[in-house]
Amino acid sequence: MRMRQQECGSAYNRILFLGAETEGESSVRLLGKKMALVPYDDSALWGTQKLHQSSSVYNFANRTIQIKQDWKQLGVAAVVWDAAVVLCTFLEMGGIDLQGRLVIELGAGTGLLGIVAALLGAHVTITDRKAALALLESNVGANVPTDLRTKAVVKELTWGQDLASFAPGGYDVILGADIVYLEETFGALLQTLDHLCSDQTVILLSCRLRYERDQNFLKMLKGLFAVHEVFYDSNHDVHIFKAQRNVRNRDL
Ligand SMILES: C[S@@+](CC[C@H](N)C(=O)[O-])C[C@H]1O[C@@H](n2cnc3c(N)ncnc32)[C@H](O)[C@@H]1O
Repeated sequence: MRMRQQECGSAYNRILFLGAETEGESSVRLLGKKMALVPYDDSALWGTQKLHQSSSVYNFANRTIQIKQDWKQLGVAAVVWDAAVVLCTFLEMGGIDLQGRLVIELGAGTGLLGIVAALLGAHVTITDRKAALALLESNVGANVPTDLRTKAVVKELTWGQDLASFAPGGYDVILGADIVYLEETFGALLQTLDHLCSDQTVILLSCRLRYERDQNFLKMLKGLFAVHEVFYDSNHDVHIFKAQRNVRNRDL
């Protein structure tokens, strides 16, 4: 089974090197350019089977990353969601330059995205709720090599709470994968984004828009930030939105 997942990781990575769309391939859009997406059949891993595996393996940043999962104990925070893999692919494709950037990840779950951001050169604060932190720490420790270890710091952040322990506007990039799904958290999530953002900060959110309420979150986001869709993976139905503070609106 692990072999199968490594193949998935490779298939994602192969997206990088294709320039043309051919018959049978689905397409993604990266910053307005159409790029080919090599199809692969991950149906065997779909659904509960994928969620219940105790680990999953990916290839990013020229490394094999092995992520421990624990769906039974921790639920949604303890499995890797497609949105995280799609955003890792986007980052590896050069969707945004992370070298030396101060990055914070919200709702990191198992930590795959934050780990990849650190391997790509960013200084990352990888955050989630308290209950998720032990597994998160363990995955970061297992996958970020010792010489890069200071680049990946795990910290508790429950949206809307204790925000004073995070520098206001202190990050170049804010990352979030599949964190738009609980309507009751939307206000606190927006408050958190608002606190962490400077006028220069770039927010990248990868989302599967499952319900109408998820669209409502986007409307709320657009009230505070200028929002653009920069990538769509049609195979996995995952959108990536880039948001930046709407300086003009804020000054009104
Ligand atoms: C669907 S999981 C996505 C996990 C990971 N980003 C991924 O894509 O693999 C949603 C994550 O958001 C976190 N989360 C939910 N509500 C939160 C809150 N109020 N504050 C902080 N994190 C929260 C959960 O703990 C979980 O890790």
